[in-house]
Amino acid sequence: MITDEIKEKIRKIVGPSHAIDSVVECFGYSYDSSFVSMSQENIPELVVRPGTTEEVANVMTIANEYGIPVTPRGTASGRTGGSIPVKSGISLSLERMKSIVELDEGNMMITVEAGVRTFDVYNFCAEKGLFYPPDPASWKYSTIGGNVGENAGGMRAVKYGVTSNYVMGLEVVKADGSVIHTGGKAIKNVTGYNLTQLFTGSEGTLGIITKVLLRLIPMPKARNTMQLMFPSLDAACNTIHRMLIAGVVPAAAELMDKISIQAVARHRNLDIHSAIEACIILEIDGESNVDLEKQAKQIQIIAHELQVSEVRIAASQQEVDEIWSIRRGLSSAIGAMAPNRFGEDISVPRDAFPKAVRHIQEISKKYDLTIAVYGHAGDGNIHPSVLCDLSQPEEDKKVHQAIDEIFDVALALGGTLSGEHGIGITKRSYIAKALGDEGVNTLKMIKQALDPKGILNPGKIW
Ligand code: LAC
Ligand code: ZN
Repeated sequence: MITDEIKEKIRKIVGPSHAIDSVVECFGYSYDSSFVSMSQENIPELVVRPGTTEEVANVMTIANEYGIPVTPRGTASGRTGGSIPVKSGISLSLERMKSIVELDEGNMMITVEAGVRTFDVYNFCAEKGLFYPPDPASWKYSTIGGNVGENAGGMRAVKYGVTSNYVMGLEVVKADGSVIHTGGKAIKNVTGYNLTQLFTGSEGTLGIITKVLLRLIPMPKARNTMQLMFPSLDAACNTIHRMLIAGVVPAAAELMDKISIQAVARHRNLDIHSAIEACIILEIDGESNVDLEKQAKQIQIIAHELQVSEVRIAASQQEVDEIWSIRRGLSSAIGAMAPNRFGEDISVPRDAFPKAVRHIQEISKKYDLTIAVYGHAGDGNIHPSVLCDLSQPEEDKKVHQAIDEIFDVALALGGTLSGEHGIGITKRSYIAKALGDEGVNTLKMIKQALDPKGILNPGKIW
């Protein structure tokens, strides 16, 4: 319970308009893009919007003193409930901390506050010929702080890796209000434990990330997009697999199955031939247009060997944007196909991707459930989306059994529960399956050391 006296103390730190307790306004901070657990209990008692690291630190000092739960939040684009304040208390929104602090062109690094949108970082760097590759589907509204907190992935992971591959250092406010700086601009750095990587992907449970130092790379000189249609899902999966083996590594290699294609067609009013069973979207990049033409040719040869039905190479930037906006809107298009949807995020070794997809199709048949399959085929990260209607009797049980089996498939193939969305609340009950009890205990020991009162994002991960 946050008393009026405590609220007053917090208002003195952030200003009266940035410590909000009206239920109507606080409601907007009670859910995220997982849309799970929409309940009155998740409405925070107080929404606090600090403007500086010092303000975050002072708020945390008070929260620590009174044992108030604090759930950090960017723009709530998360898929697993990470920013839902399940124990109420304070929703600590970093939305006002959106400055680009420094672009260090000499070292190709940028320092930004946690609340800057990922797309804004990308564009800011692109204007200087620099490239920040991680591009989660939500990058037009997700923030860097959230991306680091969840170790977000995205389309370009196949060639360029995920967020953690670019985080060089962090400014973190700890549970007790003290501030630490991890990492730095030195490329080689083995001074002490790698706290930068520990906080990256810690889902707001170990500290509040306030600033991020990111590594950049030169922007590729040429880039284009290809869309390939296939008469079978297997052929589409195998095309990507053979391409990678042959050393043709696109920046992005995305797959959509027939249900996903139908969702897009319905959403966008498109007419797609009924014989099309799968679609691949590729981003290729390189030194020059000649380089792109060579890659496109190699890809087409492989795709033709696997009976590709249609190859489209984007002829304008407008076409490129259109193709990727379809892909980025896919999750919403699929979600709109049924009253309920469970969007999963399993990740398997790259060569196991086709096998994992086949197993998911078998699970779909076994339980008579529609499961759309799409995802980042190039890096092995699949989003099986179980469509259902939970108002139907027995549906809930069936869905959870199917999801259980999907996780079993991922683990049996040497993969894991989540590639980019994190555990949050939606995958809590499965984590021991992936890490074992001792693995989970080790996480808990780290948590205990950094947040002994358990005030940071309680109720998450396990
Ligand atoms: C995507 C999100 C859901 O890839 O991760 O569309
Ligand atoms: Zn994804």
